[in-house]
Amino acid sequence: MRVVHTIADLRQALAPYDSPAFVPTMGNLHDGHLALVRRARGLGDVCVTSIFVNRLQFLPHEDFDTYPRTLEADCAKLASAGCDIVFAPAEHELYPEPQTFTVQPPAALADLLEGHYRPGFFTGVCTVVMKLFQCVFAQAKGQRHAVFGKKDYQQLLVIRHMVRQFALPVTIHDGEIERAPDGLALSSRNSYLSPTQRAEAPQLVLALRTLAAGVLGGERNLAALEERAQHTLTARGWQVDYLTVRRREDLQPPGVEDLQMGRLVALGAARLGRTRLIDSWEF
Ligand code: PAF
Repeated sequence: MRVVHTIADLRQALAPYDSPAFVPTMGNLHDGHLALVRRARGLGDVCVTSIFVNRLQFLPHEDFDTYPRTLEADCAKLASAGCDIVFAPAEHELYPEPQTFTVQPPAALADLLEGHYRPGFFTGVCTVVMKLFQCVFAQAKGQRHAVFGKKDYQQLLVIRHMVRQFALPVTIHDGEIERAPDGLALSSRNSYLSPTQRAEAPQLVLALRTLAAGVLGGERNLAALEERAQHTLTARGWQVDYLTVRRREDLQPPGVEDLQMGRLVALGAARLGRTRLIDSWEF
């Protein structure tokens, strides 16, 4: 496995290959990321993972400065998962000057849910993903693949739309959410949880499953269902941003027909202490 830090070295390392399969990450890798890497390995003729904590997608009060940077341990994990090339640029390599050109996703997709609570988040994500795609795919002659996890459900949807609207020659693949045995979705931010918070954390997915079970059980008053779920978590000490049922294809609230048809997803974001967790449950 090669570890490169510059765009020039990345392109040189990729020169012998036609069909890269790419997994963008911010590092502090866990089994969820490694499952995406294993998925990518079967797609192209070379597997590339990027590790870059992207300042553009953090709000000033968020954890950009304290986000765990664990390059050595990440590289060991990536080598064992079969990654071929790690691209770990310094900030001045990817943003040698202030990034004044940005990719602005549409409000209908990006200003709700995560985008409502983290304004500008998806602009930051789309901008860096567009740039990383240029770094990884610019000289590829064959099919280009990128893998994103369903854990960041809205992000996956936004990226799919970006690729479609810009006619980017990249196939987007999704990876299922990897969970701990007690149901907690694996996330880099789980490492912030105290033992007590870690024991409480699976309640988030439980709340989402309860929402799904309510709809599947015939409940049609979604607002009441969502309020009950929110109340349950709040009473246990969580601060809830949202717990909601949406249509999978556009994350809009479902109508009665949608509730009958299925293809729904329960999405949640909530804070335990200072740690914000997100999760989703398709049904
Ligand atoms: O999902 C993430 O880790 C990040 O949002 C991504 C896609 C690597 C962009 O910085």
